[in-house]
Amino acid sequence: MQQLEAASTKIVVVVDAAGHVIRTLTDGDLRRGLLQGATMDAPVDDLAAPPAPPVTALVGSSDQDISDLFARTQVNSIVLVDEAGQPVGIEEAAHVHDRILLSPPHLGDAEAGFVEKSFADNWIAPAGPNIDAFEVALAQEGGRTHALALSSGTAGLHLALRVLEIQPQDRIYVSDLTFVASLQPILYEHAQPVLIDSEPDTWNMSPQALASRLEKDAKLGQLPAAIVVVHLYGQSAKLDEICALAQTYDIPVIEDAAESLGAQYRGRPSGAHGLLSVYSFNGNKIITTSGGGALVSDDTGLIDKARKLSTQGRDAAEHYQHSEVAYNYRMSNVLAGIGRGQLAVLGDRVARRREIYEIYKAGFQSLQGVSFQADAPGSVGSRWLTVLRFDPDQVDVHPYQIMRHLGRLGIETRPAWKPMSMQPLCAGYEFEPHSPTEPVSGKLFMQSLCLPSGSAMSRSSQDRIINAICDIISGA
Ligand SMILES: Cc1ncc(COP(=O)(O)O)c(C=O)c1O
Repeated sequence: MQQLEAASTKIVVVVDAAGHVIRTLTDGDLRRGLLQGATMDAPVDDLAAPPAPPVTALVGSSDQDISDLFARTQVNSIVLVDEAGQPVGIEEAAHVHDRILLSPPHLGDAEAGFVEKSFADNWIAPAGPNIDAFEVALAQEGGRTHALALSSGTAGLHLALRVLEIQPQDRIYVSDLTFVASLQPILYEHAQPVLIDSEPDTWNMSPQALASRLEKDAKLGQLPAAIVVVHLYGQSAKLDEICALAQTYDIPVIEDAAESLGAQYRGRPSGAHGLLSVYSFNGNKIITTSGGGALVSDDTGLIDKARKLSTQGRDAAEHYQHSEVAYNYRMSNVLAGIGRGQLAVLGDRVARRREIYEIYKAGFQSLQGVSFQADAPGSVGSRWLTVLRFDPDQVDVHPYQIMRHLGRLGIETRPAWKPMSMQPLCAGYEFEPHSPTEPVSGKLFMQSLCLPSGSAMSRSSQDRIINAICDIISGA
């Protein structure tokens, strides 16, 4: 009883001599024991065994795995054990259900209607009216004449490279600080990624690094076949400088706008500036189709080519004739229905994410040594994720300590993307630093944490996050 009183979880884990879990005990178990004649000084062994052994999980299991385990077992608590099988903590179902996630989907009112209509009309195919309408609406939202709805953003990037006829060994410049999906399609085509560092304001591709690498590669006669520029976490890269450089050397720009749908640069939508641009509708993005993506452009020929490649490259013939390697990359009509509903609320979602960013900014105002990504001049980012940077000279708690502490409080945070130049996958690829003395992306990775930024997050949840971070940093 004393142990139970002291434990905030109100559950005690009983272990054997080797420290392995035997059972859990609640005051309900004690009460039932007393009713069956046990006394308060009797050994715990005398109590009736629970109907099932305790459910355990390895400490460090993912939120998803823990959540799945709760769903499967229907227990109220899970004992977290280390690799030796010894208990190190308890996860409670109520806590898990109260969890604040990084960026969960936020559906509007119209999605289900479009999906139901696709069922009613039996349009359960990678073609149909939802896809057609989604493409029209998306092209308009992206300030483009054409949009091609696809199964993922990664597929969009792959098709962008294919329609530009990237050849094996071609050099492709790509932002270093990004999710690996920006880079994988370059490798599918056996081309050579050249990793361009971030600049310290927006954390996006450094125009300075780009200029220096272009100058060197021009002299060596090895200019890249394309530049893939990422708008990190919804914040625009410095496109004026980047596009001007690309134009000088006559190199096509692919915008990886997977994270930045709804952002603006110089009054035009993010994704309206490169020759080709890509959006993602993955479940964690600002709007989602559960999984999906799109390729957009003003170039009819390129989009027609991509459309053909996305449907197995069928030639214009009555029979099934194919002349090139192609893919099955189309979005389904069912998922495009979700996309139609989501596009209708995109403006609200962006406004809400920006508001969340402003609340974080105000909430951390009094903390020394924390900062955020800046908006590039002339841009309004979508703040898909608010990312907090901690200056190690002023904050003596490591971001991962903060992440683990918040995790124990049911708050999901994530490290910033690990730069491509630090990935085993990229060993041996060239990297161009922002300046020879100041590589930036690695520092950003090691000093930053992505905060919950979902547009459905309540103000009280956000206050919980702000208070928890302020407490841990101030040592409270
Ligand atoms: C920067 C970036 N590029 C590309 C992708 C790929 O998108 P998808 O997951 O839809 O393939 C993502 C997201 O997942 C991303 O964050």
